[in-house]
Amino acid sequence: MNNFLTNDSALQKVLIPQNRLQERVSELGQEISQAFEGKDLVIVAILKGSFVFAADLLRAMNIQCSIDFMGISSYAGQPGSGVVRITKDLDQGIAGRSVLLVEDIIDTGLTANYLLHNLWQRKPASIDICALLDKSARRLIDLPIRYRGFEIPDVFVVGYGMDYQQRYRHLPHISVLRLNGSPDVTPDSIVSDPAGSTSES
Ligand code: PRP
Repeated sequence: MNNFLTNDSALQKVLIPQNRLQERVSELGQEISQAFEGKDLVIVAILKGSFVFAADLLRAMNIQCSIDFMGISSYAGQPGSGVVRITKDLDQGIAGRSVLLVEDIIDTGLTANYLLHNLWQRKPASIDICALLDKSARRLIDLPIRYRGFEIPDVFVVGYGMDYQQRYRHLPHISVLRLNGSPDVTPDSIVSDPAGSTSES
């Protein structure tokens, strides 16, 4: 039986429990549905991390839209440079369409910034960003995030699609991973969301 690795000592704390994720994703789905009603909306989900969030977000929406995926990875030897390699491009054209770029997390912002530049060259009508997690403390580039699930502190998170060395993506909640040398998360560094709710550990 899967106990979600509760005996894995690297998992320090549940930062966002499953029920809070579901509530917030549902709110985002409704907000996005209202904003894009009647538009030719294409959701562009960035692999791999966003696949769980994108699947739940799509099911929380009640308007017609299509979904496509882009796979990217950092160029070896240049992590954090913002230079990425496209491992899977979109299958559909986006010219004249409304694009919603869906990310699991925006950290430095370099990846999303690269993607914005890349996608604008294809002449969409609009591009908006939807990020489940915003780790703004580490931002290097200012980005317009229209739909934000949660603001989180500068901790390493896994679960709900996000990994550490390709592990932990299956967790139904978001947890803090204890990396060598990282400080423990204190009770006052819990996550916040625009509705003002906080998570419980
Ligand atoms: C994560 C996330 C974003 C990027 C954000 O991907 O999905 O694409 O990092 O970081 P940034 O704002 O500092 O650019 P990751 O490299 O972990 O790959 P994965 O989604 O395939 O796990």
